[in-house]
Amino acid sequence: MKERLQTLQQEALNKVNQASTLETLQAIRVSYLGKKGPITEVLRGMGKLSPEERPVIGDLANKVRESIATGLDNKKADLEAEALEKKLETEQIDVTLPGRPVSVGGPHLLTSIVEEIENLFIGMGFEVREGPEVETDYYNFEALNLPKGHPARDMQDSFYITEELLLRTHTSPVQARTMGKYKGNKSLKMICPGKVYRRDTDDATHSHQFTQVEGLYVDKDVRMSDLKGVLNRFAKQFFGEEREIRLRPSFFPFTEPSVEMDISCKVCHGKGCSVCKQTGWIEILGGGMVHPRVLEMAGYDPTVYSGFAFGMGTERIAMLKYGVDDIRYFYTNDVRFLSQYYKA
Ligand code: PHE
Repeated sequence: MKERLQTLQQEALNKVNQASTLETLQAIRVSYLGKKGPITEVLRGMGKLSPEERPVIGDLANKVRESIATGLDNKKADLEAEALEKKLETEQIDVTLPGRPVSVGGPHLLTSIVEEIENLFIGMGFEVREGPEVETDYYNFEALNLPKGHPARDMQDSFYITEELLLRTHTSPVQARTMGKYKGNKSLKMICPGKVYRRDTDDATHSHQFTQVEGLYVDKDVRMSDLKGVLNRFAKQFFGEEREIRLRPSFFPFTEPSVEMDISCKVCHGKGCSVCKQTGWIEILGGGMVHPRVLEMAGYDPTVYSGFAFGMGTERIAMLKYGVDDIRYFYTNDVRFLSQYYKA
């Protein structure tokens, strides 16, 4: 019986050693240590033994059982550790792998351009003002020397809301509003960026909604040369020091004299090419000396005060600076277009 127990122990421990899965271990446990297993059987047969042999065999059987149980527990711990090791290895994270790019937005090109223009004029002592997009006929036209029935109103086809209210067709009403607010008691140096609306059919160079930046300087003794100096500085700083400007006579009801400003063509430097339609120059804005009637209507004495004003289309300026050939790109919100101009 002693040998039988020792053989059983040897046999069981060998099997435990060779086991490679937790399931096999469990099967070994059941077959050797279970109720129907050989050890239990030995213990059951103890009754047949002599009183001297009984404690010896009983003791041995218990030791054999314990040794098999310990062997099983150790092997189980080993297998579990091995499995964990494998899992850690396969689930390892490579922290050196580059991450997936996250797409980040940026300011719209028009927003950046307006900010750039604002900063440039703030640097010359101008302040930024704003006005309403739904404007009265009075500020949009009358206060700017465009009485009802004036033929120049046709220059700006308007979206009327009521007979007296419309979507502003330019940013010039903000001049009239701001001057009207101070009624001749304050010199003003301001720019006003904002959206404007005209009844145009949209195409590559026209949009029924676009943006302008207006400028106004009213003080005692403001001259045409001040206008030229300020615009020259703006053009060179915005487009490049090598660019030249020229002023051409023009007409606006709210300025007298009125001018249009051109900058020399970036491509041919004034010689003439297809970009500037062979003229060497590209028109960028309108301006002039504030009409005495406009000053007067806002409460400024035109014999004491004088001023200059100008207005430019922001999209046009952006198109010239960045070579954009269709104004509709600004409003169709295609990120492939917009993201080219995101600033870091
Ligand atoms: N308001 C004019 C336009 O929209 C531009 C302008 C502004 C001209 C100020 C002269 C002075 O065309």
